[in-house]
Parts: sequence; structure tokens; C-alpha cells
Amino acid sequence: MDNFIFQNPTKLIFGKDQLEQLKNEVPKYGKKILLVYGGGSIKRSGLYQKVTGILEELGAQVFELPGVEPNPRITTARKGVEICKQEGIEFLLAVGGGSVIDCTKLIAAGAKYDGDPWDLVIKKAIAQDALPFGTVLTLAATGSEMNSGSVITNWETNEKYGWGSPVTFPKFSILDPVHTFTVPKNQTIYGIVDMMSHTLEHYFHLADHTEYQDRMCESLLITVMETAPKLLNELENYEYRATILYCGTMALNGIINMGYRGDWATHNLEHAVSAVYDIPHGGGLAILFPNWMKHNLHVKPERFKQLAVRVFGVNPEGKSAEEVGLEGIQKLREYWNSIGAPSRLADYQIDDSKMELMADRAMENGEFGNFAKLNRDDCLAIYRASL
Ligand code: NZQ
Ligand code: ZN
Repeated sequence: MDNFIFQNPTKLIFGKDQLEQLKNEVPKYGKKILLVYGGGSIKRSGLYQKVTGILEELGAQVFELPGVEPNPRITTARKGVEICKQEGIEFLLAVGGGSVIDCTKLIAAGAKYDGDPWDLVIKKAIAQDALPFGTVLTLAATGSEMNSGSVITNWETNEKYGWGSPVTFPKFSILDPVHTFTVPKNQTIYGIVDMMSHTLEHYFHLADHTEYQDRMCESLLITVMETAPKLLNELENYEYRATILYCGTMALNGIINMGYRGDWATHNLEHAVSAVYDIPHGGGLAILFPNWMKHNLHVKPERFKQLAVRVFGVNPEGKSAEEVGLEGIQKLREYWNSIGAPSRLADYQIDDSKMELMADRAMENGEFGNFAKLNRDDCLAIYRASL
């Protein structure tokens, strides 16, 4: 196990009717509030009306930034920063999925930065401060509700990058499984793939003696895999939604990955695909991850074998570690197929015509991946295998 420091300051408020907690939390941070949300799902579900009702009761002065896109765009974050600076916003409230939260993080930091917020995304500048913000999560997927990361797209230049800072943890996040009842089946599937992928990114590392961390990851994967098919048959089941919501947060809030560094190459490969084609993040991961695994099986076959045996129930008798690992990868592919996740780039009408551009984007900061370093040829090989 490697040395580590763990600190996560986000207050997690979980469960039925916890929206009421806004009344205790928001007044700690101010009265001038920017409410950030997406394309309208919160209006259709009635959550918008509930949130604004509470803010009105608190006597807050509310400004709004609607229309945050899935794969949130720098242009929208810039609008938010402008509102914050012009109106002297004191607190931001993100109500939505990972995209709304990620955009809010950039607005919060951008409001305290004297320049274009894109500088923070491309790491031309480091965020030193941010306005405080809280979240009301409506979709189980990214973990953004309890981490400091944010992923922003510049559609004009086909760039999509992750960035983050200790100043961009939410002050609080309210997670009521009921708020996720209206998430449609396809988005529910993407979220499930995303949280499983975060866990898999952690799992492929080179540190030794991470017995407890391994089992936390394995248990998260097993729990999600057991629950997902039941949830997909019953989208308004509170207990299934709660389990998936909690797993989504735990997969990327730093708790299960203390003491080692996960790989994260597949996320980089996917961000390059969605920068060029604007596809859902979880959909891209479902296509790419098994191909990344096959490409890197040789690096540490024992790791793949452990996953195959413990999570996918592969019988290892009489087989090499590589054979067992490969069976595990096939079982992951079959599992994602069984819940309706996409398996080929062709599912999104993506052919090889922009593969070079995707590889350029993935390679923007040079070779990447902590378990296995990928170069441009590796990227192209994984994309080609995913066509
Ligand atoms: O925009 P609205 O109308 O709200 O609709 C959204 C959107 O169309 C809809 N939705 C959300 N909650 C709903 C709902 N529809 C009905 N009922 C609800 N309760 O779902 C669609 C997708 O929302 P989005 O926020 O884009 O999904 P997700 O949470 O998967 O976020 C994806 C983004 O997060 C980034 C991805 O790259 C992508 O840009 N990521 C962020 C990470 C982080 N900050 O830690 C890590 C991840 O690996 C990921 O890269
Ligand atoms: Zn992800």
C-alpha cells in the first residue's frame, strides 16, 4: 500500500425527504444564490418547484442558469461566471446530474478567477478559491456530488478535459433516491456502467497489498451487478434506487481507493470520443473498457484473474491466469450487453473517419494510464477494436 492523505469535506445528506435540509444548509452560505440546472428534467419532475419554494421561504434572492448540457460546455460555464461576477452571487446550488454539478464547480472557481475559466480546465491556471456550492443530485453515476472533479467540453475545439481542485468539493450534497425515480432506462444504464467503470479504474493498479481496498471494489461491483437488473425492471423501487445511488457516490469519493493509484486511461480514451462525437459518457465506457482490458491483460494477468474469479465467478481450475482473466473480461462484456449497454462505436454511428483526431485528443498530455502507459498506437488499437 502507498502512503496517502485522505480528506473529503463534503457533507452527505442521504435519504427520503432530505430536501428539507436545504433549510439548514443554505443559510450558512448567503442569500444571493445561483440555481444551476439542466435541460428541464427537474421542472418535469416537480423538483424545481420544491427547491425554489424552499429558497423563497428562506428569503433568498435567486438567479438562475438553466440549460446545462449533458457533457457540459465551457460556453455555459462562462455565462454562469458572468452572472456570479455581475450579481455578487454568494452561493451556488446545482440541481441535476453530474453535468450540472461539474459545470457548477467550474462556475464556482471561475467566479474567483480573473480570466477565462477554460484556463482552469486546461491547467493554464490553478484554482485558488471558489464560491461555496451545494448539490441536489438527480442521477446516480459520476460521484461528482462527493468529489472535487469536473469534466468540461469545449465544443469549438473538440476538447473535453477533467480538472479539479481542493476548493471544488461541494459543501453538501442531498441524495434522495426518489429524485432519481424519473431517470430514464438508458441514463440509468449509463450511470451503472459509469460507477462500475470508476471501480474498475481503481482496481487496475500496480500497488501491492491492497487486500481491503480490493474487496471494497469487488463488493461494490457485485452489489451493483446484483441490483442493476432488478432496478431496470422496476425503475421506481426505492431500495434499488438507494443502493445504486449510494454505490455511485462510493465509487468515486476517494474512500475505496486510498493507498494506491488507479489506471484511468479508459476515462481519458472516452473523454476523447465524447469530445468529438458528444455521446453519453457511460455509453462510451461500456464500449471501450473491455477492449482496454484485453489490450492490457498481459501487464498483470493475476489482477485480471482475481477480478474474474471473485466478481464474475470464473472457475480457474486448469487454466492460466490469462485464460481466466479473458473469461472475466468476456463476462463483463456479456453483463453490460445483458443490461442493454452499447458494445460498439458503431452503435453511435461512429466509424474510423475521426479516429486520428480522437487519438490526438487522448494524447494531448502525452502517454497516459497508471497501470499501463498508453501511446498513440495503443489508443488507435483500442479504438479500432471498439469499432
Ligand atoms: O438536463 P436534464 O434535463 O436535467 O436531463 C438530464 C440529462 O439529459 C437527465 N437527467 C438527470 N437527472 C434526471 C434526468 N432525467 C430524468 N430524471 C432525472 N432525475 O439525464 C441526462 C444526463 O445527465 P448528465 O448530468 O449528463 O449525466 P451524468 O450524471 O452521467 O454526467 C455525465 C457527465 O459527467 C462527467 C462525464 O464526462 C459527463 O460530462 N463525469 C464527471 C465526473 C466527475 N465529476 O467526477 C467523473 C465521471 O467519470 C465523468 O467523466
Ligand atoms: Zn466516469
